[in-house]
Amino acid sequence: MKSLRYIVGNWKMNGTRAMLNEARAIDRAAARLPRVQVAVAPPATLLFRTREAVEIIGVGGQDCHVEESGAYTGDVAAAMLKDAGADFTIVGHSERRAMHGETDEIVKAKAETALGAGLSVIVCVGETEAERDAGNAEDVVARQLANSLPRSENAADKLSVAYEPVWAIGTGRVPSTEDVAAMHARIRATLVEIYGEAGGTVRILYGGSVKAENATELLAVEEVGGALVGGASLSAESFLAIVGAAASLDES
Ligand code: 13P
Repeated sequence: MKSLRYIVGNWKMNGTRAMLNEARAIDRAAARLPRVQVAVAPPATLLFRTREAVEIIGVGGQDCHVEESGAYTGDVAAAMLKDAGADFTIVGHSERRAMHGETDEIVKAKAETALGAGLSVIVCVGETEAERDAGNAEDVVARQLANSLPRSENAADKLSVAYEPVWAIGTGRVPSTEDVAAMHARIRATLVEIYGEAGGTVRILYGGSVKAENATELLAVEEVGGALVGGASLSAESFLAIVGAAASLDES
């Protein structure tokens, strides 16, 4: 059976308690759209309250520490995310890779720790503009996958990959559907190389300036199993337009 399209909102460093109203509205609408899987990743401070506020949608973290616990001031452990009600965590977002110096090896270790804590994981990959211009985008992403995906037993069952070209994040620019299709095909082939048959069912999300206006086109691309949405996930209205696009595709 084909898995449901997965639409995940990454709120990044946005949101105080007032945002819980958006989460509630997203949850109510998602309850009427059972053919789409919906989740949000609020900042860690809102995780527990978001979990309490919603019934249907998934709730997740945006990052976790490599270690299970310890003297790491300001960091959040995977087990703490789980304890606060998280179902999953994002790891390896390009903002973490660029601003916090996270290497593929660190991302892989984080993914393993998250799985060990009982969370599902969304591992993010994506090329910079310079890498795309140099014609290296697919090789860069394949290398990121080879080095940052978790390899523990049954890891593929709890894994999604998010392809987020760095130059498309927050810029309003998106790759052509041909480029998205080519990249997602390469990601699928790499997943099958790594995990065998189980790699065939890992969901591959697209992220980077997904909006209501481009969601249908992007979500219809072969091997695009959902979207990781930043800016447009900050209001229920704009996020639900994307969820609605996924629901309509499912019907067609
Ligand atoms: P935007 O949707 O704001 O481009 O952000 C994408 C992203 O980084 C989601 O993780």
